[in-house]
Amino acid sequence: MPLIEWDSDRFSVKNEKMDDQHKRWIEIINSLHESLMKSSGMETLEKVFQDVLDYTAFHFYEEEKLLEEMNYPHLYDHKVIHENFKEKMEKLKDEFMSGGIILRTEIMSILKNWLEDHIIKEDKRYSIAQM
Ligand SMILES: [Fe+2]
Repeated sequence: MPLIEWDSDRFSVKNEKMDDQHKRWIEIINSLHESLMKSSGMETLEKVFQDVLDYTAFHFYEEEKLLEEMNYPHLYDHKVIHENFKEKMEKLKDEFMSGGIILRTEIMSILKNWLEDHIIKEDKRYSIAQM
């Protein structure tokens, strides 16, 4: 079972490009979840974790570009949230890779909560603003 399932009622921001990117984002996080659950080797895990970080950075960049084009009034705050999110994800990866006492299930529940919260609470605000 995937960790997160796309649900347009919950997640759609009514922008096709962003919805597609959010779907991809969910997919990549699901891959990390799968690798963690399969007890894949550290090398694989590092790669998949990096994929999550890279895609997150790419998606945030694209989303900020769109918000700028839209003259979104809360762009600055949104950028700060993105920066924090990326930092926290880096930390999680580092902690895990350096053998810190962090449970795999804990990593996944943190990521799941962040992603869902971010889309539902923050991204939906620009969804409303664009209409
Ligand atoms: Fe966002």
